[in-house]
Amino acid sequence: MNAVSAPLALLAELTHRCPLSCAYCSNPLQLAQVASELDTESWARVFREAAELGCLQLHLSGGEPLLRRDLVPLVEAAVEAGLYTNLITAAVTLDAKRIAALREAGLDHVQISVQDAEAGRADAQAGFPGGHVRKLAAAALVREAGLPLTINAVVHRRNLPSLPGLIALAEAAGAERLEVAHVQYYGWALANRDALLPDRAMLDRATEQVEAARARLGGRMVIDYVVPDYHATRPKPCMGGWGRRFIVVNPAGRVLPCHAAESLPGLDFPNVRETSLAEAWMGSDAFNRFRGTGWMPAPCRGCALAEADWGGCRCQAYALTGEIDATDPACSLSPHHGVLADARAGAGDDAPLVHRAQAR
Ligand code: SF4
Ligand code: FES
Repeated sequence: MNAVSAPLALLAELTHRCPLSCAYCSNPLQLAQVASELDTESWARVFREAAELGCLQLHLSGGEPLLRRDLVPLVEAAVEAGLYTNLITAAVTLDAKRIAALREAGLDHVQISVQDAEAGRADAQAGFPGGHVRKLAAAALVREAGLPLTINAVVHRRNLPSLPGLIALAEAAGAERLEVAHVQYYGWALANRDALLPDRAMLDRATEQVEAARARLGGRMVIDYVVPDYHATRPKPCMGGWGRRFIVVNPAGRVLPCHAAESLPGLDFPNVRETSLAEAWMGSDAFNRFRGTGWMPAPCRGCALAEADWGGCRCQAYALTGEIDATDPACSLSPHHGVLADARAGAGDDAPLVHRAQAR
């Protein structure tokens, strides 16, 4: 086994089922089907193994984790294992009874996604009539239950005009934190890139609005801001570096360094049905493939920023270049940097939008 440091957090994709069908979803095009989902005891074992491995945080995600009927026992198992638990939810099925049970089980934090500040537009984007009103009601229940709340707003070409309204929505909901995240182009979002990618003027306006809100809100509400790679000159250190900070387990038990890693060819990711989380994290060829800097080609090899961004994002590099070792084209030093300008030129208000399919 290699000497590697412990992951900080486990992202547990409990299911790919979801009542919504957002076009920006980063779930893979090949969704995990219900019959392949891990059962309660398997997840509980994964949580124990994550804690033993050194994980401190557990993000319960999906799809929609509330569609797991065993969510309360799963939270209990995670709490028993000593993990800090964060529920990442669309919240359209969250009612007072469920939030009370989750709180009783020891849930630490809730993150609710919203699609727009105005109900009609939000419901159209989510493909779920009446969903926005339900989300606001669920956010109120979370606060009434005394749980910390984050509002997550994924922003893109079609809802950026609503950004001031989204900030106001998070304030009114009493959120401690607002995450304004420009779409990251994986899975369904990549398929919808032309319809979702904002132009430079839109991005700059959004950045100004976020900075003004930060200055106005001071310590009252923290705003995290995730910028889009397609306007960048340096890549993000995706997931804090491959196999460095995060470990993802998908609904079928595959252990991944990021949610999109199954899109990469030639990598054999382990499954918790056959191996322990520790073996997957430390010993698997797939996790070791892009650890550190030894795998890097030029221009990353020898670059002063190699240990700052770890060569960017492997999944984005492959999606945009067809080479899994390539420098992320978000870097201006990449010989493929021009593909981002091509993508920006291809975006427009008239581009068709395909809503996410449903897992069965
Ligand atoms: Fe990062 Fe590679 Fe670009 Fe250097 S060349 S900034 S390591 S992506
Ligand atoms: Fe897979 Fe970035 S999403 S490495």
